[in-house]
Amino acid sequence: MKRLLIILSALFCAANIYAQKIEKGKDIFSDTDITAMNAFIDNLMSRMTLEEKLGQLNQLPGGSIVTGAPLDSPTGRLIAEGKLGSVFNVKGVEETHALQKVAVEQSRLGIPLLVAMDVIHGYETMFPVPLGMSCTWDMDAIYESACIAAEESAANGVAWTFSPMVDIALDARWGRQAESAGEDPYLGSKVAEAMVKGYQTQIMACVKHFALYGGAEAGLDYQTVDMSRQRMFNQYFPPYKAAVEAGVGSVMSSFNIVDGIPATANRWLITDVLRQQWGFKGLLVTDYASIAEMNIHGLGELQENSVRALLAGTDMDMCANGFLGTLAQSLSEGKVTQADIDRACRHVLEAKYKLGLFKDPYRFGDKKKAKAVTYCEANRKAARRITAESFVLLKNDAYHGQSLLPLKKQGTIALIGPLVDTRTDISGTWSTVQAPEKYKTLREGFQDALKGKATLLCAQGCNLLDNKKTQETVARGHGNEPIPFVDADAALQDAVAIAKQSDVVVCALGECAWMSGEGTSRSQLELYAPQRRLLEALSALGKPIVLLNFAGRATALQWEDEHLPAIMNVWFGSECADALCDVLFGEVSPSGRLTVSMPRVTGQEPLYYNRLPSGRPVADGTSDYSVFTGNYIDVAQGPLYPFGYGLTYSTFSYSAPRLSANEMTSKGSVEATVTVTNTGSREATEVVQLYIHDRAASISRPVKELKDFRRITLKAGESQEVTFRITADKLSFYNYDLQYVLEPGEFDIMTGPDSQNVQSTLLTVK
Ligand code: BGC
Repeated sequence: MKRLLIILSALFCAANIYAQKIEKGKDIFSDTDITAMNAFIDNLMSRMTLEEKLGQLNQLPGGSIVTGAPLDSPTGRLIAEGKLGSVFNVKGVEETHALQKVAVEQSRLGIPLLVAMDVIHGYETMFPVPLGMSCTWDMDAIYESACIAAEESAANGVAWTFSPMVDIALDARWGRQAESAGEDPYLGSKVAEAMVKGYQTQIMACVKHFALYGGAEAGLDYQTVDMSRQRMFNQYFPPYKAAVEAGVGSVMSSFNIVDGIPATANRWLITDVLRQQWGFKGLLVTDYASIAEMNIHGLGELQENSVRALLAGTDMDMCANGFLGTLAQSLSEGKVTQADIDRACRHVLEAKYKLGLFKDPYRFGDKKKAKAVTYCEANRKAARRITAESFVLLKNDAYHGQSLLPLKKQGTIALIGPLVDTRTDISGTWSTVQAPEKYKTLREGFQDALKGKATLLCAQGCNLLDNKKTQETVARGHGNEPIPFVDADAALQDAVAIAKQSDVVVCALGECAWMSGEGTSRSQLELYAPQRRLLEALSALGKPIVLLNFAGRATALQWEDEHLPAIMNVWFGSECADALCDVLFGEVSPSGRLTVSMPRVTGQEPLYYNRLPSGRPVADGTSDYSVFTGNYIDVAQGPLYPFGYGLTYSTFSYSAPRLSANEMTSKGSVEATVTVTNTGSREATEVVQLYIHDRAASISRPVKELKDFRRITLKAGESQEVTFRITADKLSFYNYDLQYVLEPGEFDIMTGPDSQNVQSTLLTVK
């Protein structure tokens, strides 16, 4: 009998563990019993002191935790006193559980901690930077990457990621374009949805930065923003709204001003739009110390600004110590009410409840599981496949009668550039938990791919920048092994010497990891001078050159486009080296498409395809320098490579779009069908795109707007009909009064392989 009980209890435990395992596909919040949650939180809050409630609203980075003695660290002491509701960027099961133990065992009420982290494009298995992920246009892949990131995070003790960032990023000078899904609201909304759903199979997502952070003037990080509400609603808000509709558990407000008031304390933004209009019910956290920064924005002192932030609808204060430090005083002075504080506290406790932390505070973080899943074979394989999908082939001209790429694994190949030997930069910007010692450098990837087949010669070739101090500063994010600053002449000579001995030269240039990301605005998007000099010297040799342009943003490659036969954009990732070899040597045909317009020169920024029309338009690609038209006098109009663009190793032809009817009512829909044919000699993947243009409306509408897309893989010679359904929603917009309307009239319906190369037909809405 006793044995039976043991077996039964073992089975029960197993079942219990299994029940805790979150199935893929299901949102972790979906099982929450709201009535039970409310009763639980009512009861808990009835026992909390004011200070304990304010403690829940306080969030700090983990800081340096004294291993084995967390109570000896400032963070540990605050937790024990019930003055900290959440910590972030603490790595590993041991440390997160040590802090959790303090919360559960030492604080008076044992309220568990909410452990957060900037898991931006993977935990240890790093995917390309988010901009690169968006270039896959593959929502299943993006969802899968978020599931993998969530799985590794959850196993390592993280319950909450500060991702996805869905800020529309039109200006490539802004370094955080790397963290965005690019310039398009429709694609950005799809990416937001896929990421939120992927993360929330296991942990809580946080959509950020609400709102308009990407609108920073002149692409300068933390600069001010000013825009019309029509633009907010039509162009910048859709991805945040899509994240809310996808059930995102939390939102982070942004550093910038919205309509004259910092987003952190903007009641219209947080309460009227986000909570009331869109129905967001979750947790709202500020960005890093942004309540304190309101003072620098010119809005008074910390106490006053904490009141403003709370009353605007903020629940949690990241790092400003404004809520914990000043709200008790404000309550006693009648500046806030107990109900305001209770509302914020409830949102924090609800998040903890929904994540199951009250049932099992240690449910995130399992050493055995962490060992099994972190950077495991399956995750690396997925990352390699998905990374290969992200590369965008920008140019692939014929060399000796044949496209230069894919390369053959034969002869002698020179691999040259500052990115060739870096292990710490390979995963890209914002890789909080990267494990560079486990990742391959490009040289190692090439060596593995070419073993026994071709000779590989490598050289650094140049510095990233001419200025030593600047190079060392931009390498700061990955301080252990920064790309060395070398003697420029000797490096160039080495490169020229190995190039001379080679049949083909592959150059790995562009940005190191932290040349894009937070606080890394650039005033110049061209390749920096030493890199250009290297390319000039190498191209003078007459050898075929492939440029691998590492970037976390759109860059300006006019000179390279004019002088080099093959260019591919590369967006980092822990498996980047292997994935690159898969594509360069032809096992995989490139399928990435740009999600940002690439300028000819920096001065064109912000450059984006879905602009409002000019009254004096000049066609893209033309260089009509006549006066009194909307062109620059010194550069051709439009992008060098447009939004949506990218080559494959095959070629495709498109029919004109055919409509199921030329007219539709405002309640109806029509279908647009396009026939796509693979006219080349190998299988490849094409991203078929649908754009619309509203010819006449009550407010000015963009010249073109993406409204749908489909990734299709076709064998050589194969054709496929792709059908898009055009609904009222695709033709609607926010009018001057911010009502979402479909105005009858004529719409151009356009299909094609990118935003410039489209064929058009006309639809009339009655
Ligand atoms: C960034 C956020 C990030 C936060 C916490 C801030 O500086 O703007 O995106 O989540 O730090 O690390």
